[in-house]
Amino acid sequence: MGIEIEQQQQPSVGLSKIAVSNTHGEDSPYFAGWKAYDENPYDESSNPSGVIQMGLAENQVSFDVLEKYLEEHSEASNWGAKASKGVSGFRENALFQDYHGLLSFRKAMASFMEQIRGGRAKFDPDRIVLTAGATAANELLTFIIAGPGDALLVPSPYYPGFDRDLRWRTGVNIVPIHCASSNNFQITPQALDAAYKEAEAKNMRVRGVLITNPSNPLGATVQRAVLEEILDFVTRKNIHLVSDEIYSGSAFSSTEFISIAEILEDRQYKDAERVHIVYSLSKDLGLPGFRIGTVYSYNDKVVTTARRMSSFTLISSQTQHLLASMLSEKEFTENYIKTNRERLRKRYDMIIEGLKKSGIECLTGNAGLFCWMNLSPLLEKPTREGELALWDSMLYEVKLNISPGSSCHCSEPGWFRVCSNNMSEQTLGIALTRIHNFMEKKERAS
Ligand SMILES: Cc1ncc(COP(=O)(O)O)c(C=O)c1O
Repeated sequence: MGIEIEQQQQPSVGLSKIAVSNTHGEDSPYFAGWKAYDENPYDESSNPSGVIQMGLAENQVSFDVLEKYLEEHSEASNWGAKASKGVSGFRENALFQDYHGLLSFRKAMASFMEQIRGGRAKFDPDRIVLTAGATAANELLTFIIAGPGDALLVPSPYYPGFDRDLRWRTGVNIVPIHCASSNNFQITPQALDAAYKEAEAKNMRVRGVLITNPSNPLGATVQRAVLEEILDFVTRKNIHLVSDEIYSGSAFSSTEFISIAEILEDRQYKDAERVHIVYSLSKDLGLPGFRIGTVYSYNDKVVTTARRMSSFTLISSQTQHLLASMLSEKEFTENYIKTNRERLRKRYDMIIEGLKKSGIECLTGNAGLFCWMNLSPLLEKPTREGELALWDSMLYEVKLNISPGSSCHCSEPGWFRVCSNNMSEQTLGIALTRIHNFMEKKERAS
């Protein structure tokens, strides 16, 4: 989400602990890079030497499909001439503020979540709690399962926004489950155990594990065997499992992505009450500005509490109406999911191929709006400082904003996340040429 990163003067009047704390993590290079882009944004005609934004996991590749739907279904996006019982659509929208949300929308959302999983998992609309994006869903769940000083174990590298979403206002600690390039950054039982022990040694009570599947920033899905291991681990320890599946529709095929919901279904929902799924339409439909997220929990008490808490973070009724119409059209959603996957795959192939030609290797991925690129051979020093020095050159010399691995809490220096779906193919071509020229210059210098 957009943020204000200006350094502001401290006011002389006192503020709360949360207001003055810097655990939001927004002073990291991940967000500083956005600022550098904002100050000098690339534009093909007006600013061709500007910074190209490759630090934003947006999906703009299928907007035309959404726009076509809106053109053909103007009733979905306007107020609706007459809604039920002769009350105007405007009045219905103006007055609706029930935190259960529109049943038609929850049904449509449940069915869309099933479709994305190739029909291999079922979702009950009554378990869907609506929130303003996955940001709110993740924070809200953290408030419910943990308290200040407790710990959540999160595989690293992880999405930099988690420092804000899971930690800042809740007072909960994030303890990383360190994943390594030697096994393609897969989560291992040893890494899970080590993180658990680290939290215990710091006198923190571990309340759960939070995974992102498909992963941000790795751009890869979590394997079935790993999901099974994690589920066994949280059951053994009697803690929660949150699965952030916000990128599920960007796996290149529905069979490559295995949701935790499928594993639970295979186990006849045994121990399901500890499992909660986070989802949003920010990535799969490319609508972060609409703020449409959900908590899906198999635990009745969590559903009830999350619904109460969602009062703080509701989705506007007009947005719910629009998306209820759009997602209820099976033919449209099927076509959208298929087209979107094909286009993301094509973009991914383009960036991987382009980087390879420049001599850069990436992690083998099968999902997401980005790739995880290895620039460690270019580091002058194999340290976080070395990585940030390279990031600085990329930003101010090459004029590309990419995200350094350290901002994602990666334990190995030299990895970067590169986004490619928030721009035109032409702009991506220019970005790849800039990288190519930079690599040639480096080679000549060495
Ligand atoms: C893993 C992950 N979770 C949550 C979010 C926040 O998504 P939303 O825009 O729905 O709040 C992001 C956004 O980049 C993300 O990558």
